[in-house]
Amino acid sequence: MMLYDYSVKNAKGEDVSLNAYAGKVVVILNTATGCGFTPHYEPLQAMYEKYHDQGLEILDIPCNQFGNQAPGTDEEIHQFCSLKYHTSFPQMKKSEVNGDNQLPLYRFLKEEQPFKGFPTGCPGSDFMDDMLRKADPEYDKKPNIMWNFTKFIADRKGNIVARFEPTAPMEQVEACVVSLLKGDDLTKRDALEVMETRRSSRKYTDQRVPKDVIEKIVRAGTYAATGMGRQAPIMIVVENETLRDRLSAMNAAVMGATMDPFYGAKQVIVVLADRNVATYVYDGSLVMGNLMNAAEALGVSSCWIHRAKEVFDSEEGKQILKDLGIEGDYEGIGNLIIGYDDGGKRPAAPRKSNYVYWAE
Ligand SMILES: Cc1cc2nc3c(=O)[nH]c(=O)nc-3n(C[C@H](O)[C@H](O)[C@H](O)COP(=O)(O)O)c2cc1C
Repeated sequence: MMLYDYSVKNAKGEDVSLNAYAGKVVVILNTATGCGFTPHYEPLQAMYEKYHDQGLEILDIPCNQFGNQAPGTDEEIHQFCSLKYHTSFPQMKKSEVNGDNQLPLYRFLKEEQPFKGFPTGCPGSDFMDDMLRKADPEYDKKPNIMWNFTKFIADRKGNIVARFEPTAPMEQVEACVVSLLKGDDLTKRDALEVMETRRSSRKYTDQRVPKDVIEKIVRAGTYAATGMGRQAPIMIVVENETLRDRLSAMNAAVMGATMDPFYGAKQVIVVLADRNVATYVYDGSLVMGNLMNAAEALGVSSCWIHRAKEVFDSEEGKQILKDLGIEGDYEGIGNLIIGYDDGGKRPAAPRKSNYVYWAE
């Protein structure tokens, strides 16, 4: 079974096949009119107006299973949303998303994208975790929807590629939608295919890579092999615009260049490694490799930018590390710029004929 095999009921009680949404990017969410997250309707409607013509659909499924916060009839709920938030995306019949009477669609969505915790560092995440844990210490072990306004996103082929808990910022939801509308493939890809098709990008859109995607990328970095398992490398995820621009300027100064060596990419992951470990350069390079391939697997483009060593060997670079609270004898290995490609890739050069020798 896949997404398009399921159906839901509209407010009139008629079956609506999800097949009607084939080829679209679809956001499916359980909603409630009296919830702290109800104002999400506003950015959802804005997103719908902006991208509906490009193929975005939003499927609103009211549900009263979380704090009884959707007590109204279908008609009342519809009136509230259209009057208060001017919603124009389809609103379905009030339904259940957990338990014996859950919509079969929801069983499928939760299997495809199980709960992985509330996103760290987002306002409300700790509160939600505390509240749910008090009610059930094992709450996060259950294959459930945890609260109102949990959003699943399907790509144009019907793959459920993302799940956003209600505390995830709506900007992240939008970034994911935009990436899918552009045709980025966010499904897990075959490792060999990723390694062969990854190419460096030197032109990026303005779209930022969402934090949860970067978290996956750096996690892959932390699992790179290291000499004697000593884990010599560290990474700095540069989200801060001022620091990004400063590092770019320092890098340009080392090269005597006037262009932006980060090619307009908004985010950078800097890899450094502890000079006191004999294998530190190899270790850091492997981290860079993991980062590049993990990014590619998640539809994020990247390019290794040189001169991290010179930048972080300088007094200014050392001060930056100090200001970030990083202590130790770290050498810059590489800057990985990341973002969404905007036609900035060159095809792979033909592989040289004497790359591999066999000793048989
Ligand atoms: C150690 C290293 C340093 C690099 N430094 C730069 C750089 O400073 N600027 C840049 O545009 N590309 C840089 N690159 C990217 C290479 O130019 C790129 O990987 C190469 O041309 C092959 O292209 P591909 O990555 O698309 O396969 C670097 C790559 C490596 C591995």
